Amino acid sequence: MISFDLNGKQVSVDVPEDTPLLWVLRDELRLTGTKYGCGIAQCGACTVMLDGAAQRSCVTPVSSVEGSSVETIEGLSGREATAVQDAWTQIDVPQCGWCQSGQVMSATALLRDTPKPSDADIDAAMGGNVCRCATYVRIRKAIHDAADTLEG
Ligand code: FES
Ligand code: FES
Repeated sequence: MISFDLNGKQVSVDVPEDTPLLWVLRDELRLTGTKYGCGIAQCGACTVMLDGAAQRSCVTPVSSVEGSSVETIEGLSGREATAVQDAWTQIDVPQCGWCQSGQVMSATALLRDTPKPSDADIDAAMGGNVCRCATYVRIRKAIHDAADTLEG
C-alpha cells in the first residue's frame, strides 16, 4: 500500500509502485479533473501540486509521493487559488477546457511564489502548459488580474 495526503485527507492505494500518479488519481481515486494530454511531461495538462510545487503527475511514480501532500484541482484552495479561479471565471479563459485545470494549478503555484509576476515571469512559469485552443492571452490577463486582486 502507498499512502499520501490528497487534498487534506489521507488515502492509501494498492497499485504497482511505478504507476503514474495521474492514473492513480483518475482511475483509482476517481478524481478526473487532472487531465491526460501527452504522458511525457510536455503539455502540463496533468499538473498537480506536490508538497506545494507544481508537478507533472503523468511522469510521477506513485511510490515517490508516499508520505507527501498532493493537491489537485478538486481540492485547490487558499487565497491565490481563489483569486486565480475568480479571474479565470471573470474573463472566461477556457475554450474547450482540456488544459485548464493544469493551467490553473500552474498559475496558482506561480502566484504563491511570485505575487506580482511580470510577463516574463508568467512566460517562464506557464511555458510548459500547452493550450491547443491558444487561450494564452486570456491566461496572461487572468494571472495579472489575480495578482491585482491579491495586492488589493
Ligand atoms: S499529460 Fe503530463 S505533461 Fe502532458
Ligand atoms: S482551452 Fe482547449 S486546450 Fe486549452
